[in-house]
Amino acid sequence: MTDTAIRKVTGASINLDSVVKHYRGQDKPAVERLDLEIEAGTIVAFVGPSGCGKTTTLKMINRLIEPTEGRIFIGGRDVTREDPDKLRQSIGYVIQSGGLFPHWSVAKNVGAIPRVLGWDKKRIAERTEYLLDLVGLDPGTFADRLPKDMSGGQQQRVGVARALAADPPVLLMDEPFGAVDPITRVRLQDSLIAIQHELGKTIVIVTHDFEEATKLGDKVLILSEGGHVEQYARPEEILTDPATPFVEEFVGSGAKLAYLTVSRVRDVDYATVITARVGEPAQAVMDRAMAAGHTWVVVVDEHGRPRSWPSLAELATKPEVSDFLDRRLPVVARSSTLNDALDAMLAASQGAALVTDGRGAVVGSLSIGTVTETIQAKLADVRSAEADLSYETYVDGTDPAPTPVVAAEGEPGSDEQS
Ligand SMILES: Nc1ncnc2c1ncn2[C@@H]1O[C@H](COP(=O)(O)OP(=O)(O)O)[C@@H](O)[C@H]1O
Ligand SMILES: [Mg+2]
Repeated sequence: MTDTAIRKVTGASINLDSVVKHYRGQDKPAVERLDLEIEAGTIVAFVGPSGCGKTTTLKMINRLIEPTEGRIFIGGRDVTREDPDKLRQSIGYVIQSGGLFPHWSVAKNVGAIPRVLGWDKKRIAERTEYLLDLVGLDPGTFADRLPKDMSGGQQQRVGVARALAADPPVLLMDEPFGAVDPITRVRLQDSLIAIQHELGKTIVIVTHDFEEATKLGDKVLILSEGGHVEQYARPEEILTDPATPFVEEFVGSGAKLAYLTVSRVRDVDYATVITARVGEPAQAVMDRAMAAGHTWVVVVDEHGRPRSWPSLAELATKPEVSDFLDRRLPVVARSSTLNDALDAMLAASQGAALVTDGRGAVVGSLSIGTVTETIQAKLADVRSAEADLSYETYVDGTDPAPTPVVAAEGEPGSDEQS
């Protein structure tokens, strides 16, 4: 994919070669014999029913659990005989509860491994500031805070920052977003994707949620009992071509609609927006918008992050662009799934959402009509693929013309705002 081709990769490949884990006292191995190749710089999601061996497999990669048999390679290096403590310093690890030290400040938590590695104070401070910013926490506000004075989602962000502290090529995450509410969960997922795009680490994430797996994983590994590989493929492939009855069952009959969770905002033709800064003369902004044929603009802060989306009529009421933070502004990331984008619009009762990059700066807007058209087109593709399978294909190879979807698409941000 072109997207991966231009992406920076700082991660390392992971290879499992005939790995077995037989816990003492169990008659069957938890992981029977697993071979797995994970490409450097990608996200792989392990998914499967409880007890199928996801956590066991993950912990064998950083040797929190020793394999009974087999070998594990990271970046082509056999790590099975390496000093496990040293190995763990080069592998970030995030668990469900965040695993932060409760009596340590955020900064002290994030700097834990760099301190072990003997970094000097200044370097640790700089790294901590960079990482808190990366995970979406303002360093000035949060560096000295104790974990107990933060929400579950914020603690999880600190957990990710801490895992990345020593710049490890590999990040392992065991159900990291399992304990947060659904909205926070979506935000954390989006942040993780943005971080991955920025850093190009190799990330292995365990989840029991298939939707989360398809959203996050470049590839998804579906396991059944005994660490048995049912399918290891890209999400689209699993959805369209489940390898076994187990996968079919696991994915469920909603597979076609799950397209919503594999299509992302960045895959869709979202529209450009006209931005304005607080204090700018309103007339200049209105001229700019009208020249571009827009009836509304986005007011942004100094980092380009959206604050409100007034219509030109609203702008005309004041000589200068005034400052107002619209807390109901529906905002989605470029990496968000269309499903999440729809949720954001519906939650805000708006016909559109603003699209932001990994750092929260506005890059465009997406209307509900565009989402609907995209889904219709996808579903039409699936149906015609199914028709191709069930009947003889058209002799001349032409496709029936798809019914055009006409969406009444009012300009967002105008009359629906009050
Ligand atoms: N420390 C342990 N000792 C013995 N059996 C274990 C231990 N940890 C996990 N198991 C067993 O190994 C199997 C796989 O567990 P686990 O890897 O935790 O699965 P998952 O993460 O997919 O829910 C289960 O049958 C579980 O009961
Ligand atoms: Mg587990």
